[in-house]
Amino acid sequence: MTKEPKRYLITSALPYANGPIHIGHIAGAYLPADIYVRYLRLLKKDVAFICGSDEHGAAITLRAKKEGQTPRQIVDHYHQLMGDAFKNFGISFDEYHRTSSPEHTEMSQNIFTKLLEKGSFEVETSQQYYDEEQKQFLADRYIMGTCPNCSNEKAYGDQCEKCGTALSPLDLINPHSTISGNKPVLKETSHWYLPMAHHEKWIGQFIKEGILDGKQHHDPKAWKAHVVGQCMSWVDGGLHSRAMTRDLDWGVPVPLENAEGKVLYVWLDAPIGYITNTKVWADKNGKNWEDYWKSEDSQLIHFIGKDNIVFHCIIFPIILKEHGEFNLPINVPANEFMNLEGDKISTSRNWAVWLHEYLQEMPNKQDEMRYVLCSIMPEQKDSEFTWTDFKDRVNNELADILGNFINRVFVLTHKYYNGVLPARERVQDEDVQLQKDSIATLQKIGEKLEQFRFREGLMEAMNIARLGNKYLTETEPWKLIKTQPDRTATILHECLQLVARLSIALEPFIPYTAEKIRQGLNFSFSEWNDGFQEELLKTEHSIGQLPILFEKITDEVVAFQVAKLEASKSTTVATNVNPIKENIAFDDFQKMDIRIATILEAERIPKTKKLLKLKVDTGADVRTVVSGIAESYNPEDAVGKTVIMLANLAPREIKGVESQGMILMAENANGELSFLTPDRLMNPGNEVK
Ligand code: MF3
Ligand code: ZN
Repeated sequence: MTKEPKRYLITSALPYANGPIHIGHIAGAYLPADIYVRYLRLLKKDVAFICGSDEHGAAITLRAKKEGQTPRQIVDHYHQLMGDAFKNFGISFDEYHRTSSPEHTEMSQNIFTKLLEKGSFEVETSQQYYDEEQKQFLADRYIMGTCPNCSNEKAYGDQCEKCGTALSPLDLINPHSTISGNKPVLKETSHWYLPMAHHEKWIGQFIKEGILDGKQHHDPKAWKAHVVGQCMSWVDGGLHSRAMTRDLDWGVPVPLENAEGKVLYVWLDAPIGYITNTKVWADKNGKNWEDYWKSEDSQLIHFIGKDNIVFHCIIFPIILKEHGEFNLPINVPANEFMNLEGDKISTSRNWAVWLHEYLQEMPNKQDEMRYVLCSIMPEQKDSEFTWTDFKDRVNNELADILGNFINRVFVLTHKYYNGVLPARERVQDEDVQLQKDSIATLQKIGEKLEQFRFREGLMEAMNIARLGNKYLTETEPWKLIKTQPDRTATILHECLQLVARLSIALEPFIPYTAEKIRQGLNFSFSEWNDGFQEELLKTEHSIGQLPILFEKITDEVVAFQVAKLEASKSTTVATNVNPIKENIAFDDFQKMDIRIATILEAERIPKTKKLLKLKVDTGADVRTVVSGIAESYNPEDAVGKTVIMLANLAPREIKGVESQGMILMAENANGELSFLTPDRLMNPGNEVK
């Protein structure tokens, strides 16, 4: 299996559809895969790049509960949001499908049934924690307690996120339900377990020696040390049986009679999503999905973050091997974590740079972020993103090294040769050397990418621009134009070849910029190997105008982004389930006069962002109320709404307008406000009590 494969199947972890994508996800599992795939495509390899949304499991149902929505609403929303963001960022999946699709139900049920028939599972009946009030079994993230290993009080039923230990709910000290906070009781239930201990021996050999079924499957030294290390510590610690089903009403139903209310464990169905989504893609494109999954001359590579290692290197391979027909991964180049401004990225704490927001706030700057994330990719150890570093890398590297070199070459060519590529007239050693060095560098980039060393690959690509800058600085063609025009012509000839070579070398990393450079050059190419030619552009070739490649990032942008992060920190604390306030007497409540009212008119209060001036009908009178809702409602959307109002709040002057009462609003964790509209007919003046 070490011989040159005919096909590649490249996957990126299916992200949970319970929140948007952030830059930590991108640096972990999506950008490296995209760079790799773009490189393979340039080598003209047959490659399928497969991803999709992971739409089952407690991550989804808990989020839905928190937001008061159905799981379906949640996954529909985030599937769209994530798919769009990936696309706009240039992550070039061939397929981005979803695990809540009928195709996926069929595929995962088929695989489950096959394993069942083979006797790969063991049915076990046991006592499990149950929330009597919610009438629900508590597995995985539905249960929390103290970690027996590190005493973290917020360990989940499947894992302690602090120390990484795999847990079962029964391991937790002081367990409680995450939905109700209740202390759970024990109740009997049956599930299908994967007896992983049976597989310990071969999986250990697979990871450590790269041997499968007595044959060399892959070179174990090609795997990252931290991946092998993490796997071996699992294997050496002893593998335990894991339940492959759950008592839940959201997921792929267990395809058996007498299994009502049971679904496949999300970590069984999600990786099968890679298979489903390959099939969906293949069916659309006249291909055979089985060629990619089952044929010996196809190679499977999973790009993931380090928290997914055990699932992709141990559990899913066991499933695939038990099934008997599928290939196992040739490599799993997992990345470690990227931190943000001194803290761990966290979706629940809203400490993140969200990809869709970045794309909106900094339009057409995909490559700036791709470049920075690739430069600091956490390949071997955790890394850190800061906005100051982002600015420095864009300004000092992209703009000053890359942009500057290319720009100088364009300016000089237009100035001296009207944009027409001059012939090489007097070639010297340094010209030959430049060509040799840049071709050797292109070769090195390929080698680095093949070893999943994306940071070094990018650095080598930038080295081509560095070579160019050094060459220009040393040869000073602008000084030679009068005295030795044949030298100036030759130097610019070489430089333009270098720019064309750069436009190939950069393509996997920063494809938008690479394309702009080619547009400027009027140059096109068809494959990576074209870059090894000496003459990419022919003498007499006319170049065009260079579009602006990089604008400098200003201090204001950095300050804005940092302030936004800090603010998100405090809004999460302020709005995300605050502790309940101190008790008040019933009499205090009685003092409030709360009424149904209708909004008759609304207008923005000039020079404010948040305020609307409303005219409302309280049933008893018509009043003016100033309301801080303008970031959530446009005036025209507020008019006509039936709302709830505190009618006897003492009048207050706000921005020169007397506000006579207050509209009551609900606020979610994102700071969005919502009117509280009654759910049957109510008229202005009706009391709320
Ligand atoms: N949704 C998981 C996560 O975000 C990853 C699933 S990868 C798959 O951690 F293999 F299961 F698809
Ligand atoms: Zn722990």
